[in-house]
Amino acid sequence: MYPLLRPLLFTLDPETAHHATLDALKTAHSLGLLCAKHPAAKPRTVMGLTFPNPVGLAAGLDKNGAYIDALAALGFGFIEVGTVTPLPQPGNPRPRMFRLPQANAIINRMGFNNLGVDALIENVKRAKYQGIPDHPGILGINIGKNADTPIEKAADDYLIGLRKVYTHASYIAINISSPNTKNLRQLQGGDELEALLSQLKAEQESLTELHGKYVPLAVKIAPDLDHEQIQQIATLLMRHRIDGVIATNTTLSREGVENLQHGNEAGGLSGAPVREKSTAVIRQLAAELKGALPIIGVGGIVKGADAQEKMQAGAALVQMYSGMIYRGWELVAECAAAIRHQQ
Ligand SMILES: Cc1cc2nc3c(=O)[nH]c(=O)nc-3n(C[C@H](O)[C@H](O)[C@H](O)COP(=O)(O)O)c2cc1C
Repeated sequence: MYPLLRPLLFTLDPETAHHATLDALKTAHSLGLLCAKHPAAKPRTVMGLTFPNPVGLAAGLDKNGAYIDALAALGFGFIEVGTVTPLPQPGNPRPRMFRLPQANAIINRMGFNNLGVDALIENVKRAKYQGIPDHPGILGINIGKNADTPIEKAADDYLIGLRKVYTHASYIAINISSPNTKNLRQLQGGDELEALLSQLKAEQESLTELHGKYVPLAVKIAPDLDHEQIQQIATLLMRHRIDGVIATNTTLSREGVENLQHGNEAGGLSGAPVREKSTAVIRQLAAELKGALPIIGVGGIVKGADAQEKMQAGAALVQMYSGMIYRGWELVAECAAAIRHQQ
């Protein structure tokens, strides 16, 4: 169905098309027109959680958790909502999302537009996804910092997010890699990361005791890191017993799209042009981590073979965003089938 609708949607500005598609999916789902059928796949246990299939929705598509049940009906093995910040914020001025169809790519500089963590939690509570008998849905909640929180105080925002979402998430993603929040990526550097991870781990331990429930933490990193930076991040993730790493976010590189319309818009580039960079980060992480923690591979999956490549590089699970915009939800089943026999 999506391939038929795509030409019409692509006549709209990308953000309008985004909301129109999600609203239409929600309506179709509430009318019982979307049937939740998980693609044939072997369930797998990662971060202590059982995933019905290893193909997930990446963060940023459902920033407020307003479409969880409709998205679940598309066959994802897990859904990551957010990035959500402690307080609501409007994000950057529009236009802030650009399609580059010749490259199967998107550039965005949304800037964490979201309704704030309390609104997201209300949406999560309303969703039926996590309460489905026999196969409760796996929900990641991705947290970030408000734009006007100084970077030196970033940990405070992550701790607020962590405490608030803790009992509502299957896992919590710590986003320190968006290129659209000033200085955020600095948090990936040695001293800053050490300080942040030690505070997050200590808080996770207190919350585990308080709620009698262990919720894994996964750190989301950028593709624009050199060999030494990746090595350092891997060492710190292991030292602080972080449960998973999500690789990668969007890239600042414009390699391969410089001459395309919108190719030089500011923001993060996603889709096919980030695929190789993201896979290279996964490959190095896998070599450094040696299985100490799992890798969730994301970046440029637009066909089944791309998901296969991520698993071969060392990912335990995969996620997608841009590929969905170009291919629609048939991509979920295609990827699940392609990696069915990969562990
Ligand atoms: C419009 C848009 C908004 C995004 N917003 C977020 C976000 O809020 N938080 C986040 O961690 N990643 C965000 N991402 C990054 C994706 O989750 C993903 O890491 C990246 O796009 C690479 O995957 P892809 O090539 O499959 O799109 C966003 C991506 C796009 C295209």
